[in-house]
Amino acid sequence: MKTLTVALGDRSYPIHIGQNLLAQAELLRKHIRGRQVLVVTNETVAPLYLQRVLDVLNGFEVSSVVLPDGEQYKHLDTLNLVYTALLERRFNRGCTLIALGGGVVGDITGFAAASYQRGVAFLQVPTTLLAQVDSSVGGKTGVNHALGKNMIGAFHQPGCVVIDTDTLDTLDDRQLSAGLAEVIKYGLIRDAEFFQWLEQHMAALRDRDKPALSDAIEHSCRIKAEIVAADEREGGVRALLNLGHTFGHAIETGTGYGNWLHGEAVGAGMVMAADLSARHGWISRAEVERAAALIRAAGLPVAPPPEMSRQQFLDLMAVDKKASDSGLRLVLLQAIGKAVVTADFRPELLGSTLDPAAA
Ligand SMILES: NC(=O)c1ccc[n+]([C@@H]2O[C@H](COP(=O)([O-])OP(=O)(O)OC[C@H]3O[C@@H](n4cnc5c(N)ncnc54)[C@H](O)[C@@H]3O)[C@@H](O)[C@H]2O)c1
Ligand SMILES: [Zn+2]
Repeated sequence: MKTLTVALGDRSYPIHIGQNLLAQAELLRKHIRGRQVLVVTNETVAPLYLQRVLDVLNGFEVSSVVLPDGEQYKHLDTLNLVYTALLERRFNRGCTLIALGGGVVGDITGFAAASYQRGVAFLQVPTTLLAQVDSSVGGKTGVNHALGKNMIGAFHQPGCVVIDTDTLDTLDDRQLSAGLAEVIKYGLIRDAEFFQWLEQHMAALRDRDKPALSDAIEHSCRIKAEIVAADEREGGVRALLNLGHTFGHAIETGTGYGNWLHGEAVGAGMVMAADLSARHGWISRAEVERAAALIRAAGLPVAPPPEMSRQQFLDLMAVDKKASDSGLRLVLLQAIGKAVVTADFRPELLGSTLDPAAA
């Protein structure tokens, strides 16, 4: 087992990464506050792993809630199911929630914990690659609104993150690829060496080679933990983690939540960000191709859905929270391994990226 730390003063917490960690009772138990524990999961993950988590919680007053599965359920009504479970079972302010599942369960559970009785403890047990390398770390929680992705939420850090890499055995290939999008993102924004390592190991990762996967997870969590520790509330460097996401969120909302997976939308979105960077002359066409080749090798789309128009993109991107008072801000590349957040891009070049046929 490897343990990393997200260094946030008295809210610091460990990320444990290894095989068969669900069986190691103490990893979760020692971070539980109070006696009451609610495990939040969904209908797909519950039959696979819920009992194993319940098994290590004996002695606590434990119950569980099983949510419907899918990004299309990441909204206020589903969140309300968690509040209802907490209230019906008379959970008090000293309780602990445990998120068992992918990023959707993690984001909903985290927001329930941030808001229930003005804030209770929660722990993350991520079971998708995407959640293990990204969403379980850093304390961003929330739900979608029909008009915009992740528009309702809060910052609320977990008490620990337990990554049992064996849970990936049951994940399908499409979801594995979606997780690889966020892994590639770390290489693109700040680690050219890691990007190169990914080029060399992409086949092994897609073959689910355990050592390669666990190296990729550890490296990704290390980068995420560093960035979060430096800028918890996204005043600066943390915004780089949104590479490809303003485009990607527009794709997710525009095509209807759940049709394009988050990671797929981010894959295409990162290529769009690279393309726009090249149109400004900040990176070469060869670098765009190199980024696209790795994203394609991960099994991800490298172009937006043809049915989305330039105007639809612009409308949806304006809603995205990276649009500040000063206008739309985008994460763009200055090299493979170096990204910047900027409002200083040429709108006509953005138009060409969104609609290359018309350009
Ligand atoms: N909070 C953050 O910082 C952050 C960062 C990145 C992404 N996100 C959010 O995360 C979400 C995407 O997360 P995701 O990709 O994990 O999607 P997800 O939670 O929908 O999980 C993907 C699918 O895999 C299933 N699943 C989960 N674990 C499994 C397992 N071990 N075996 C078999 N099936 C399993 C799920 O039930 C679901 O059908 C998006 O809503 C995105 O906005 C949040
Ligand atoms: Zn993401």
